[in-house]
Amino acid sequence: LTVGVLFGGPSEEYEVSRKSACTVMRGLREAGFDPVAIGIARHGRWYGPIAEEDILTFDPVENAPGEVAMMPRPGGTVYRLFDLQPICELDVVFPIIHGTYGEDGRLQGFLDMCCLPYVGAGVGASAVGMDKVYMRDIAKCHGIAQTDYASVLRKRWQKDQTEILEDLTRQFAGAEVFVKPANGGSSIGINKATSRDELIYAIDQAARYDRKILVERAVEKREIELAVMGNDQPVASLPGEILADQAFYDYHSKYESQVSRTVCPANLDEKTTEAVRRTGLEIYRALDMCGLCRVDFFIEKESGRLLFNEVNTLPGFTEISMYAQMWAASGKDLATLCRELVELAIA
Ligand code: DAL
Ligand code: MG
Repeated sequence: LTVGVLFGGPSEEYEVSRKSACTVMRGLREAGFDPVAIGIARHGRWYGPIAEEDILTFDPVENAPGEVAMMPRPGGTVYRLFDLQPICELDVVFPIIHGTYGEDGRLQGFLDMCCLPYVGAGVGASAVGMDKVYMRDIAKCHGIAQTDYASVLRKRWQKDQTEILEDLTRQFAGAEVFVKPANGGSSIGINKATSRDELIYAIDQAARYDRKILVERAVEKREIELAVMGNDQPVASLPGEILADQAFYDYHSKYESQVSRTVCPANLDEKTTEAVRRTGLEIYRALDMCGLCRVDFFIEKESGRLLFNEVNTLPGFTEISMYAQMWAASGKDLATLCRELVELAIA
């Protein structure tokens, strides 16, 4: 089987995708495949096949002469634009592009049109899984516990700021909130707000990334994650826990800090572990996922309640990312994980 690994893309999570792609390439190779890496530049052009050692630095600039990508290393390989015709010669695609375009159903729709099977959720589940307001609305319909939330549209925010602030103050009664772009990833554009001024700042910031903004009540919590995989009969890993070096696990603490730690499996009693796994599978089915998905939860410190936070349909596969770690802690190594994900894509 020829497996194409797509990475990069016009997303805020470009750099995370390059790191994830390195892990996925390694896993596929260890599983006995001969994967082909195809890089999508920040400006949307496709290049490849990309040598594995060039993935981490792959970053072509726009309008390169002759539409070639010069790798930043002196004497490095020169890549030409990838002719989209050969994509149909791939047997299956592993798109490891996080965030906008890669994780939100658009790439999935394109691959459907090419009649190419791919790893991960289809168009609908990807789109819903990317949108923090949609996914919460669906979780709510299924009676799954989560933190109180509201959504704000950028256009209305620009017009009726005072009215929106009044509504939010009434709903959250001055409690601390997180403000997030509805379609974001890796905590980019997210801010915490307590005062009215902070709330205005946070909404303005989130509005730079998205026309739809999620406001949710902040709680004192532990952050628990769960890896799920499968199609109609999904299975769940053991949960893992994030011990962030600060109150908010932001982009810096995720990818740059040496202090944030993850623990797999999470130190939870048996009853809570089972509740996390059961609820994770319930959410996976409710959102009609397939392939893989990471489900993120909070455990509220005060009440001990398990609260749904979000799903990630193409979770990070970086050195510090939890998805593969949670499977490893559950007895599934990276090669087995990658092989099974490919098998699920063509099942
Ligand atoms: N959005 C990042 C890649 C994650 O959830 O792991
Ligand atoms: Mg996310």
